Amino acid sequence: MKKLVWDESFSVGIRIIDEQHKELFKMINMLIDKKDARVYSETISEILTKMTQYAQYHFQTEEQYMIEYDFPDYLLHKEQHMTFRKRTVVFCNETMSKKATVPVEILEYLKDWLTNHILITDMKYKEFFYEKGLR
Ligand code: FEO
Repeated sequence: MKKLVWDESFSVGIRIIDEQHKELFKMINMLIDKKDARVYSETISEILTKMTQYAQYHFQTEEQYMIEYDFPDYLLHKEQHMTFRKRTVVFCNETMSKKATVPVEILEYLKDWLTNHILITDMKYKEFFYEKGLR
């Protein structure tokens, strides 16, 4: 399976958010690359749980900016974050049995959701925050 590769087309123009997105790419890539999972001596379940926790931290960062700057689509955006949270909690529970691999459907979901969310939904705040002077 192809790994996620971050490039400038994923940049939302805010340094801290771009860094968080890169970290999420890295964590999903660790799940794709079983060798990495062995190097870090972590089970797939642990990596998936960490990724889920980091995603929550990232969503909170975005949502705090949205509240602070009164972003008009805040509630719709938050709803998407919530959908991802719910799905990944289910995935975490499913992989608690210390599996050595992640089912392909889960990896496909994580990759598709994250890339689509950044390129379509997150991009909607790019210009808004830029005009507010956020970098
Ligand atoms: Fe970057 Fe809306 O998550």
